[in-house]
Amino acid sequence: MQHTSVLLKEVVNGFENLQNGGICVDCTIGGGGHSEGLILKYPDISIIGMDRDPQAVRIAQERLSRFGPRIRIFQRSFSDLDDLLNEFGIEKVDAILADLGLSSFQIDEVERGFSFKRSGPLDMRMGLNDRSALDVINGYDAEEIERVIHDFSEERFAKRIASSIIKKRPITTTDKLVEVIFSSLPSYAKKDWKKVVTRVFQAIRIEVNDELTNLRKLLEISKGRLKIGGRIAIISFHSLEDRIVKYAFKEKEFIPITKKPVIPSDEERISNPRSRSSKLRISERV
Ligand SMILES: C[S@@+](CC[C@H](N)C(=O)[O-])C[C@H]1O[C@@H](n2cnc3c(N)ncnc32)[C@H](O)[C@@H]1O
Repeated sequence: MQHTSVLLKEVVNGFENLQNGGICVDCTIGGGGHSEGLILKYPDISIIGMDRDPQAVRIAQERLSRFGPRIRIFQRSFSDLDDLLNEFGIEKVDAILADLGLSSFQIDEVERGFSFKRSGPLDMRMGLNDRSALDVINGYDAEEIERVIHDFSEERFAKRIASSIIKKRPITTTDKLVEVIFSSLPSYAKKDWKKVVTRVFQAIRIEVNDELTNLRKLLEISKGRLKIGGRIAIISFHSLEDRIVKYAFKEKEFIPITKKPVIPSDEERISNPRSRSSKLRISERV
């Protein structure tokens, strides 16, 4: 499935500081939709695009090739932004965008094991990873698995689920993991099993891809790399991410452009259900 960009109009309008051109970093270029929207609205900008996923890099390159060298795309993690800018001799940029979470084509590809709705191998790597979900589920000890589930999903049955995983190993497929999570729940909680499974999958994905650490690194790097008056926009998809962004934007280097997080309109939520949990925060470097 093609990826539909979330909060596209809101992101594009939020970077009004790009009206006279400038350099924009799209840290999560994915299917290329936000970058395309930005370059169409602000034709004098150039974009440095990044994605850790080689498939996203290929898709975005194809979609955006018509803009020639004004958009350059690299397979890198945004936690490497300092190194990438150093390689180009760029000191400061005018805009930084990160649209966190997954591209639709990543979720839809059974082989990548992100979705619990169909059986696939336990993988969940976005690209450039040291470990996969298979390593976490079958290699971590009970305390570590409990910590991952508890810290990254705030799931109250984390301990039960972790001990059940240890007993039922090896677990190599998504459907086996779903079965193990379901069987670990007390009977009164079984009716909500889908919510629990969604949370546990999210927690494992965050661990596999080191998502919160990378986000913290990006926010720190941004302070040194944004010009005064430059803007940063982050779209998050769950409260752990949003909390990190919210507190970073309260630091003295930033003033908020969005007082409250921007959320999708009813129309967008209906036409693109994957936008439902998204929150956009924009800040300006002062
Ligand atoms: C929601 S999608 C972005 C969609 C894009 N904004 C669009 O309009 O098509 C998120 C993308 O971020 C990428 N990603 C996640 N963490 C990353 C990281 N640390 N560095 C680079 N890319 C990352 C994922 O591989 C995924 O393709």
